[in-house]
Amino acid sequence: MDQDAGAGLLNPYAQSKIGNDTIFSWWARYQNAIENGADAVNGTIGALLEDDGSLAINAVVDEAIRAAPPVEIAAYAPLKGMPGYLDLAKTLALGDYRQELEEIGLSMTATATPGGSGALFLAASNFANRGEKVVLRDRHWGPYKGFLSGCNLEPETYPLLPKNPSIEHPYVDIEGLKSSLERLCSVQDKVMIWLNDPAHNPTGLSLTAAGRAAVLDAVMESASRHENVGHTLLIDAAYHLYAEEPHGWGQTILDAMNDGWPWTENLLITFAISLSKSHTIYGLRTGALVSIHPDSAVTEKIATVMGVTGRQTWSAAPRVAQFSVSQLHASSDGGAAWSAERDRLQELLVERRNHFVESCEKLKVPVNPTHDGFFAWLEHEDPNRIAEACAEQEVYLVPLTGGVRIGLCAIPLEKIPRVAQALSNALK
Ligand SMILES: Cc1ncc(COP(=O)(O)O)c(C=O)c1O
Repeated sequence: MDQDAGAGLLNPYAQSKIGNDTIFSWWARYQNAIENGADAVNGTIGALLEDDGSLAINAVVDEAIRAAPPVEIAAYAPLKGMPGYLDLAKTLALGDYRQELEEIGLSMTATATPGGSGALFLAASNFANRGEKVVLRDRHWGPYKGFLSGCNLEPETYPLLPKNPSIEHPYVDIEGLKSSLERLCSVQDKVMIWLNDPAHNPTGLSLTAAGRAAVLDAVMESASRHENVGHTLLIDAAYHLYAEEPHGWGQTILDAMNDGWPWTENLLITFAISLSKSHTIYGLRTGALVSIHPDSAVTEKIATVMGVTGRQTWSAAPRVAQFSVSQLHASSDGGAAWSAERDRLQELLVERRNHFVESCEKLKVPVNPTHDGFFAWLEHEDPNRIAEACAEQEVYLVPLTGGVRIGLCAIPLEKIPRVAQALSNALK
């Protein structure tokens, strides 16, 4: 492709956007292999597939959407979202801990967004100062960089895992996080941290309760020491409803409050919620940004700012899933039926992950710690070589910065040992 095409029409930032997303190009290679008759394994895509390769669909959600009256499909939603849905979004973020958090005086606001991506966009565009940095772990979902750079922001990264893991919280590099916070607090008056937890993409890592408490403590401590620096901790909860502890963050926040933790004015906690995976409605683009703070004037202002930003970007988020999913969860029967389906889908992931971890252990494949969600990860300095060597064995994975992503969500259970074997051969 001519790199300079349209240079006189596109602005310099637009010209810097280059296509050919790695994940989709490796998926295309898998599809080519299938078309050519190969017995290929698909570990590329980020959608949950049944063992027969079809898209896994939560039948209860599908039924609820199909039962929506025509007007709920055709009409706009209110700009900030439908009230019932905004209420549900808070519960999806915090689970059973929500009520107690409200009772002890925390204020909450939610804005409906087109997927979790919309929530990330709202946060990038409103909580950080243009031209500054946002704290990420060094292994993160690729599109983060695009959301940030579109708002003229850059990542400031710290390692995914500590060099010398503590027994108490082995899955988070607290020292790395603290030094990033310290560095940014000395040069910025707003610091935002994005943390995809639990069920991290691309590794499947989930923090333990002690890990979450240590993160919250580090952020809170930084906020109290730098009272003129706004701190926003964003929990990207794109996969949380498939995790062993889906509402661990709600519990961690509640525990901290009950321990007498002083929530300073300059601290905000916000959740990017996505219904794409949890309700298997990837294409209906439904999510929310849920923000919590002790001062209701702050959450009200945030509601206005996010609503206006949405209006100026995508107008209102789609209506039909807001309507149908909030109706579904409004009755205890509906909620239970959704849970039963979710449990079945979660079980697919649990079985595949357990089988994968065991197979890797047998073959001594040094796969990263992995707990929940759609993915597992092999850290490697030459991920392309490993992915190419696996592709030669008709196992298609995705090479990303620092390692290879194994899409357990797409791999049938019976093919899991082949993936471990391919990695083992590739590493030799
Ligand atoms: C880590 C992470 N965050 C957020 C999202 C947002 O998803 P969506 O915009 O489809 O809700 C995804 C989707 O793949 C993701 O992997």
